[in-house]
Amino acid sequence: MGKELFQIECLTGQMGAKMHKKIERNDPCWCGSGKKYKTCHMRMDERIRGYALEGHIVPDHSMIKTAEQIAGIRESGKINIAVLDYVAAHICPGMCTAEIDRLVVEKTKACGAVAAPLGFEGYPKSVCTSVNDQVCHGIPSEDVILQEGDIVNVDVSTVYQGYFSDSSRMFIIGGKTTPERERLVRVAKECMEAGIAQVKPWRFMGDMAAAVNGHAKENGCSVVVDIGGHGVGLEFHEEPFVSYVAPAGTEMLMVPGMVFTVEPMVNAGSEEIYVDDGNGWTVYTEDQKPSAQWEVTVAVTQEGYEILAY
Ligand code: MF3
Ligand code: CO
Repeated sequence: MGKELFQIECLTGQMGAKMHKKIERNDPCWCGSGKKYKTCHMRMDERIRGYALEGHIVPDHSMIKTAEQIAGIRESGKINIAVLDYVAAHICPGMCTAEIDRLVVEKTKACGAVAAPLGFEGYPKSVCTSVNDQVCHGIPSEDVILQEGDIVNVDVSTVYQGYFSDSSRMFIIGGKTTPERERLVRVAKECMEAGIAQVKPWRFMGDMAAAVNGHAKENGCSVVVDIGGHGVGLEFHEEPFVSYVAPAGTEMLMVPGMVFTVEPMVNAGSEEIYVDDGNGWTVYTEDQKPSAQWEVTVAVTQEGYEILAY
């Protein structure tokens, strides 16, 4: 959706519709807390409305989770973390990426949850395993055997009691790789951390993006433009689209209760990418140089952020 259109919809749709219905101060809050509007989200809504009137992109109520919903996403995130820990304990040279898929299915099931990727928009497996110059959406295969020195992103997403979480980590197979790959894996992690540090209420998603992109550039790396992060929690992929290259002060206002991913894809060379037309999923770097990605699910809190999955 175009930025301007979205802005108008925010004003007329979300704030507008809610304002039209005119929740009175003493009415129950729209969030379902059972509290009166005036002691729950009223002040926050007024503050958001102020930013909207200044022309900023603001979240609608569907993007603001309740404490109960965040608690659900937190539980889902704990499983996502446990699944990635399980992969970390077993991943090794000589393993095929289909084996990682089996590990994810096994651990997720043992936790009473379901892997979100399987069947999502037709995706054929339960996890993404992206090796070396694969940027994302690598499909686990019996034919991809991990070699010493490969760098692989394992991207795990869990649905538990209706709540979604999403995180990914890089693994250096055998623990040693080339200086270029090792540096890229480190810089990509630092980019994610620099972004997380900028997640604060009443700041902008662009502030987070500028921190990510700035750190990548300082280190001679590039950040993928065409694929970004997303809201997450009640669905696998929710609004907003999350850019990691936008300028500071732009993009959506961050508000307590928003939950989204910080997952910049960082390339050693250019940001240019292409999609495998054989499987329609796997994204590669155009220049065949390596790409790395770390991902967390974060919630915006009153003070800053809470990491719900890493
Ligand atoms: N965690 C990945 C993402 O948010 C999953 C992509 S969808 C899948 O981009 F179907 F490939 F899993
Ligand atoms: Co994601």
